[in-house]
Amino acid sequence: MALKMEDIVSLCKRRGFVFQSSEIYGGFASCWDYGPLGVELKRNVKDAWWQSVVRERDDMVGLDSSILMHPKIWEASGHVATFSDPLVDCKKCNARFRADHVDVSAPCPNCGAKDSFTEPRNFNLMFKTSVGPVDKEDGSNIAYLRPETAQGIFVNFLNAQNTSRKKLPFGIAQIGKAFRNEITPGNFTFRTREFEQMEIEYFCRAEDAPRLHQEWIQARYEWYLSLGMKKENLSLRPHEKDELAHYAQSEASTGTTDIEYQFPFMSEPAELEGIANRADFDLSQHAKFSGQKIAYFDPERNEHIVPYVIEPSAGADRATLAFLVDAYHEEEVKPGDMRTVLKFHPKLAPIKVAVLPLAKNKPPIVEVAKRVKAQLAKKTMAQYDDTAAIGKLYRRQDEIGTPFCITVDFDTVEKDNAVTVRDRDTMLQERVALDQVEKYVLDKLDV
Ligand code: GAP
Repeated sequence: MALKMEDIVSLCKRRGFVFQSSEIYGGFASCWDYGPLGVELKRNVKDAWWQSVVRERDDMVGLDSSILMHPKIWEASGHVATFSDPLVDCKKCNARFRADHVDVSAPCPNCGAKDSFTEPRNFNLMFKTSVGPVDKEDGSNIAYLRPETAQGIFVNFLNAQNTSRKKLPFGIAQIGKAFRNEITPGNFTFRTREFEQMEIEYFCRAEDAPRLHQEWIQARYEWYLSLGMKKENLSLRPHEKDELAHYAQSEASTGTTDIEYQFPFMSEPAELEGIANRADFDLSQHAKFSGQKIAYFDPERNEHIVPYVIEPSAGADRATLAFLVDAYHEEEVKPGDMRTVLKFHPKLAPIKVAVLPLAKNKPPIVEVAKRVKAQLAKKTMAQYDDTAAIGKLYRRQDEIGTPFCITVDFDTVEKDNAVTVRDRDTMLQERVALDQVEKYVLDKLDV
């Protein structure tokens, strides 16, 4: 049976991955909070990304720029003029839709009225705020919550390049919040008004951009596979000319290719990440609007150039949701006995190993279990749990995707000084000597 979004939402709530924001006040539309396990999962996704695109490469550096920036940045970037969606209102019931999401010649999907839509009007997606204690009537203290992290990278291009002394091609990576006043958010954490991006701006010579664009598409596609995402659910889709963002429309650009994921509750594959060739659009615009010279000096060729940019731009929340959905399995353990198991890659699993005492009222067992947990916790994410019978504890750990459980039992303390290690996926159990168990589990986890 196909997995429904309600199943995922309910598991996320029940097990502490994701909660509705402001729940005790009735919720706040399209905002979500990551709970004790969700925060670990999302952090693991971000760490795996940072590890692969910054730490393991010699041609990348990191950045953490501010969310509020000079408002002129959004004029230069084109967001003030063009970052908008066309909106129509139903004149009968006042419901509002994106003009490209409804058939404007058909009845209103909300109240069924015919010919009831207004002409499409453009609605800017940036959230506005004002800086300082008073709103100025001339709008001179307006600032925007950034709608993408990318611009923080472009305006720091010279700072990052000068201080890191990187030569072309090189890139700057950043993870951070972005905000968009989406008209039709939805599908749980897939489309929200506040979300987190993981973005790379990779600067290069114009002639190298087409090749590097392809290399980044491949590298980013393989990253999802390397973390266990099923190949049959992933696809690549080059954008049609008429859907390209303003920065990828020039003749110089080789366009944008999306990495898409087929969520079981959506009719078509949906975007996880876009890899765009932004050419020299952004650096040129910032040079123009700031009046500063923004160029790269090539000492070998003795020339100044404005680099081209390849931009792999991913959503941390979308990737987290896709990894979660992809890991979800329901299995019949034996006739009539089902289990839900999240088969996360060990790198992503929120808890890597759970230590479970077979009897919580037997001090020698508890003492060993707590010692094993404390020892493992110095090296990995370990959890001690004695709040139910062992069968129930295994199922609970399966449902949150913990790769290994270690059980301390009577034999441990009375006979063999060994523990049982249970594998989440095979459910096979092995007896391992106490003084070997840390190495055994860490080797198997290999993270
Ligand atoms: N700097 C380029 C840029 O922002 P984008 O395609 O608009 O490009 C990049 O966004 C990624 O950010 C998307 O692929 C998606 O994963 C994520 N994203 C965009 N809007 C989102 C939203 N409303 N909710 C959650 N994630 C979003």
